[in-house]
Amino acid sequence: MNRNVTRRELLSTGGTVAAGLTMNTLLREARAAEANERLTIGVIGCGGMGRYNMDCMQRTGQCDVAAVCDIDRQQAERTAARSAELAGGHTPEIVPHYQRILDRKDIDIVIIATPDHWHAIQFLNACAAGKDIYCEKPCCHNIREGRRMVDATKKYGRVVQIGTLQRSQQHFQEARDFIQQGKLGKITMTHTYTYENESPQGMGNAPDSEPPSGVDYNEWLGPAPLRPFNSRRFHGSWRWYFDYAAGMVGDWNVHLQDIIQWVMRTPYPVSVNTEGGHYVLEDDRDTSDTMQTVYDFGSYVQTFSMRKASGKPWYVPGGHGMDFYGTNGMLHLSRSGWRIEGDEVNWSDRDNHELRTPNFEAKGRTVYEPHVQDFIDCVRTRKTTIAPIEEHYPIVVACHLANVSYLAKHKIFWDREKELCFKDRKLTVLDQEANEYLGREYRKGYELPEV
Ligand SMILES: NC(=O)c1ccc[n+]([C@@H]2O[C@H](COP(=O)([O-])OP(=O)(O)OC[C@H]3O[C@@H](n4cnc5c(N)ncnc54)[C@H](O)[C@@H]3O)[C@@H](O)[C@H]2O)c1
Repeated sequence: MNRNVTRRELLSTGGTVAAGLTMNTLLREARAAEANERLTIGVIGCGGMGRYNMDCMQRTGQCDVAAVCDIDRQQAERTAARSAELAGGHTPEIVPHYQRILDRKDIDIVIIATPDHWHAIQFLNACAAGKDIYCEKPCCHNIREGRRMVDATKKYGRVVQIGTLQRSQQHFQEARDFIQQGKLGKITMTHTYTYENESPQGMGNAPDSEPPSGVDYNEWLGPAPLRPFNSRRFHGSWRWYFDYAAGMVGDWNVHLQDIIQWVMRTPYPVSVNTEGGHYVLEDDRDTSDTMQTVYDFGSYVQTFSMRKASGKPWYVPGGHGMDFYGTNGMLHLSRSGWRIEGDEVNWSDRDNHELRTPNFEAKGRTVYEPHVQDFIDCVRTRKTTIAPIEEHYPIVVACHLANVSYLAKHKIFWDREKELCFKDRKLTVLDQEANEYLGREYRKGYELPEV
């Protein structure tokens, strides 16, 4: 790292120090030496999360927004207006294509908050352009994309934070420490769940129509198959279609699964079996409304339960969460806090451990700011973030494999070295059918960039 060269000095060379990446890398390193310099952001995807992440970054008082991009002009304008409000009037450039953001040399950070089917292409191009990336979860539409994103991050030396914000919450960290200190004993089973009752209509159906004015629908589809515009497949509700996302597995379980694998320090499942279907909801989503996945993680069994047609909504207690079952008792953890229940067998052993207080309870609150601040700090110091893509990848492998098993309609065995599905535990018979679901077909002109 050249700490004697400042960013401004490098910029004043007009990019002649070295072409492309080398120049960008030098700029980053120089910036790391200038710890107080403001960072410049470009926002790609100006829906709910793009706007919110931008908002959090701006409110740190350490960042300026230079440009916002959305294929829907209205979304971009709304986001630019919010940024101007926070910046005391300075309005960012509004751009229709994200390439303009990648081309701007003054932009350090990109927020990628498009629907999942766009993440990988934009991420890979952003890496090659030398940007640091705050990328929403799940990082990818499918497993093959995730692998390439990990490789690109390494090759181009980028700082990446994935939007799995629970890792930055104090009460999740406390629960993690409690378990990792062995206080729950040996854990043999974990469980994640997310519920909601949207029966019978679900999100309802809508006829195909013309796209709204100001929307570049072809660009919204990007790598996904060409089909007529339908409002149910568009803003917000695209997440219930496999063309763009992974249903509840990618929308919610990725948050819960992230904590399980982070706490348990187990990277990949050995086997995955999903049962479920679209049993009740009357809308035309193609992801399931009911699902139960059983994972074998080698030293413990993990189950994931999802219902969209029965249960409390995810945002009230009991609507989402996870449980860790150890030889000393159970720890329940959610966005509201955590609770332990010691097993009776240990209550008599007064010198045993903290579980002799059997119903300990800690309140929690989930906020995004610490996660964003961690990213900004790491962009400056070039340290690894709390949710780097190389740690997120095994999480999305587990999540996507739940759908692979669902679609293939059978149990699969994962070879973590070959990154392929097999039909047997000894990994001798390739599971061709399941392996079809590890990637996708890309529409012409929207292929996945090589690394
Ligand atoms: N971390 C969290 O807690 C959390 C919560 C909700 C959503 N998410 C994730 O955030 C991402 C965005 O979700 P959302 O709810 O904001 O979706 P959304 O539909 O509200 O917003 C997505 C925006 O991206 C735009 N877009 C689509 N293609 C584009 C392109 N090629 N270039 C530029 N803009 C494009 C759309 O027009 C839309 O405005 C998803 O990956 C989702 O899984 C994360």
